[in-house]
Amino acid sequence: MKTKNVSLKHPGAKHRSAEQALRVSEQRYRRLFETAQDGILILNADSGQIDDVNPFLTNMLGYSRKQLLGNKLWDIVPFKDVEASKAEFRDLQRESYVRYEDLPLETSAGKSINVEFVSNIYQVNGDRVVQCNIRDITKRRQAEEKLKAYSHKLLVLSRRLVEAQETERRHIARELHDEIGQALTVMQINLQALLQPHGKQALGPRLRESLAMVDHVLEQVHDIALNLRPLILDDLGLEPALRWFTRRQAALVGLQAEFHADPMAQRLNPVIETECFRVAQEALTNVVRHALAKTVSVELRKEAGQLHLRVRDDGIGFDVGTVREKAVRGASLGLLSMEERAALAGGGLEFKSTPNKGTEVHAWFPLKWRTPPPESKNP
Ligand SMILES: Nc1ncnc2c1ncn2[C@@H]1O[C@H](COP(=O)(O)OP(=O)(O)OP(=O)(O)O)[C@@H](O)[C@H]1O
Ligand SMILES: [Mg+2]
Repeated sequence: MKTKNVSLKHPGAKHRSAEQALRVSEQRYRRLFETAQDGILILNADSGQIDDVNPFLTNMLGYSRKQLLGNKLWDIVPFKDVEASKAEFRDLQRESYVRYEDLPLETSAGKSINVEFVSNIYQVNGDRVVQCNIRDITKRRQAEEKLKAYSHKLLVLSRRLVEAQETERRHIARELHDEIGQALTVMQINLQALLQPHGKQALGPRLRESLAMVDHVLEQVHDIALNLRPLILDDLGLEPALRWFTRRQAALVGLQAEFHADPMAQRLNPVIETECFRVAQEALTNVVRHALAKTVSVELRKEAGQLHLRVRDDGIGFDVGTVREKAVRGASLGLLSMEERAALAGGGLEFKSTPNKGTEVHAWFPLKWRTPPPESKNP
């Protein structure tokens, strides 16, 4: 006789397993809620009262669960200042999905944070429930602001660089035309005069004048070349070039100069040599132009795998914050280009200046150049 495969389970068993499934589901939901790395707020959609809040949000806002539960969203301090938050809640009740990209909130410690706020409405046992997901985007915002400021700085800098390049070209063109061109014209006239039949009589004075002109032109060419790029930097390296430049600049205004350099076993990478020299060049030019100092000292040290350049003067100093702000708005180029050069070479730079005491420009560069450059680190 065949037996029917009939379930002998008690009718209550079905009910129990449904209860068990519900418990498992509730546990899963709880775990998600408790461990979520975003703030979650559950509100009653009709009254706006807070029914639940996860630990991430209580940490983020600095309020205990007890302080938040049972309150209306717009009555708790962080949301109190949110403009028209009550009206926004009404929007939410109407639209069932609301997203604010960037809401400023204040924590219990008075710290302001920026959050992304997304709310949805759904039904639970006939009740309308609002779930708000709140993500702290303060760090992202700060990084965005930093990036914006940096790209503005770069824009100003590149605009000024183009201008500076034009000024430099104008200067070289004027030197070539006014100084060298004039001298060559005088020599040309003298040589033409010597070709005349009676020219031989004035041979001596004309030759002497021409020789003086040749000396002058040679000096001019030497100066132009030096200002464009001192060959000593390529031929002998950073230390001799910097030593020579420090003495030359100091002599211009009668400054007492000191120069100290750690011995370098070998030549540094040309990129580092050039960038370090250019930073020192601008710092020393600033000392000569602005500092009204009595002494200037230049140091080149090897410390912890980095090359450190320090240019110090005992002059009138300046307010770094104010001057930097003006520079970023396009008032000057020197300070920003020093910072940019050090950063592009994989290093960094800081200014210390005290009015009436003096200024120190401290730049650091990696001793080993890598492409692309490593992240700048303040030592
Ligand atoms: N060593 C210093 N001592 C005193 N003031 C300084 C010194 N270095 C810079 N400054 C001040 O900082 C300002 C900005 O310097 P920065 O090098 O950016 O511009 P600049 O030298 O005026 O022009 P440039 O763009 O041609 O370099 C200067 O105008 C000056 O007021
Ligand atoms: Mg300058």
